[in-house]
This record gives sequence, structure tokens and C-alpha cells, in this order.
Amino acid sequence: MNVSAHLDSDTGEEAATVSDPGLVVAVDGPSGAGKSSASRGAATELGLRYLDTGSMYRALTWWLLDRGVDPGDTGTVGALAAEPRIEVGTDPQVPWVRVDGTDITSVIRTREVTDAVSAVAAVPRVRAHLIAQQRDIIAMAGGIVAEGRDIGTVVAPDAPVKVYLTAAGAERASRRAAETSGSPAATRIDQDRRDRLDSAQSGKADDAVEIDSTSLSLDQVIAVIVRLAREYSGVPHPRHQSR
Ligand code: DC
Repeated sequence: MNVSAHLDSDTGEEAATVSDPGLVVAVDGPSGAGKSSASRGAATELGLRYLDTGSMYRALTWWLLDRGVDPGDTGTVGALAAEPRIEVGTDPQVPWVRVDGTDITSVIRTREVTDAVSAVAAVPRVRAHLIAQQRDIIAMAGGIVAEGRDIGTVVAPDAPVKVYLTAAGAERASRRAAETSGSPAATRIDQDRRDRLDSAQSGKADDAVEIDSTSLSLDQVIAVIVRLAREYSGVPHPRHQSR
């Protein structure tokens, strides 16, 4: 079946939203590849919710630092992983994060949290707890674009649309430096360190479509994700067909 033709005749080219209310779009890739902006833009265009899983690891990290816990103390970090109540907003226009009712949307982006979050995210009990919560959010959303490092491989391996978004290392660093007003060289060193620390938790699913955004505009990246979602919308994933 020609999926595009099927969808075009069913929903029309101009359809604002996808036809599958439970569609899950997984967007993975390294930091600075543009996942957040692209995922939010695609979710908005597709009429889907949006989940930034990195913000949950950041929220737990902020809470631990606020309590004076050493992020390198794996035992304590793991034991406290389920202690705070972490909530995230899934409106792609206004994502927010709360811990025990306090809005921490901005403070989770500080240097202190960014420097500590990789160590926290590497703790198995942290991952088990937050992944379970992420799966619940995805299951309840009625259609969502979820971004992170392990969405297509671990959190939602059955997602019918998977994107792995990359960009050349220098380009990622210069984008991040522009956002943070930092120097590209220092940002690159920090980025390489984070890539190394995050690598065990990061992966490209075999069935993910890789998008190299090095020379693409944000709108072009969004357009590719939206096209993939519209092509797959309503069409069962091959794994489901074989069950
Ligand atoms: O994308 P980010 O920089 O906000 O992610 C914060 C940290 O969380 C980073 O160290 C990678 C980690 N992370 C993860 O291990 N798994 C995810 N699904 C998302 C983020």
C-alpha cells in the first residue's frame, strides 16, 4: 500500500493533525542536535503532546543538589530517586517542570544542573523509576512526541515513528554556545564530556530514521518529522502486525 497516497485521500494534504490519536513519535539524539525545538515544533504541527524526558533527569538532579546530595554518590542517588514528585507539562507551547509542586522550569537549565545530570542519569534505579513514569505519561497522552536519548530503544521501542537527530559536533557546539552565550570552544569541550558520559544511555534504534541537521533549518527538520508522522499515522507498526 502506498501509505502517503492512502493518507492523502483519507485526511487531505492540509490536515492539521495526524489521524492516529495514540501516535508516538520518538526523537533521540545527542545534546545540541536540536531535538527540543524540532520535537516541540513537530508536536505543535501534528496536534500531539510533547515530552522532554531530559527535563525529568534534570528535575531529579536539581532536587538532589538542593538537598546537598553528591551526584556521584550512586547509592544515595538511587535510594532517593523516587522521593520527589516530578511532574511535567506536555503542552508543546508551554513545557514546564515541577518538583513537589515547585516550578523549576528555568533552574534545571543552570550550569550546576547541567554539569551534574549525566552522573544522576547513569544510575540504574534513577532510570528504572523515571522510565516507568515516562511510559505512563506516553500511555496517557493520546499521541505524543517524546524526546530523549533512549526513547526509541528503551522507553517506547514500539513507537511507530522514530527519529535519530544528529548534527556535526562543531555545529552542535556553536548552536549551544549561541543559546547560552558561551564560547564555542569551551562548549565543545563540555559537549564532548557529556557525550561520553551519556553514551551508555543513548542509542539509535535500528528502525529509526536518521536526520543530520547540520545544514538544515529548524523548519526543514520539523517538516521531515511531520512528514514521517503523517506517512505512518494509522498504519500498524510491522512488529504489531506480526503478533
Ligand atoms: O537533553 P538534556 O540535556 O536535557 O538531558 C539531560 C541529561 O539527561 C543528559 O545527561 C542526558 C540524560 N538523558 C537520559 O539519560 N535519557 C533520556 N531519555 C533523556 C536525557
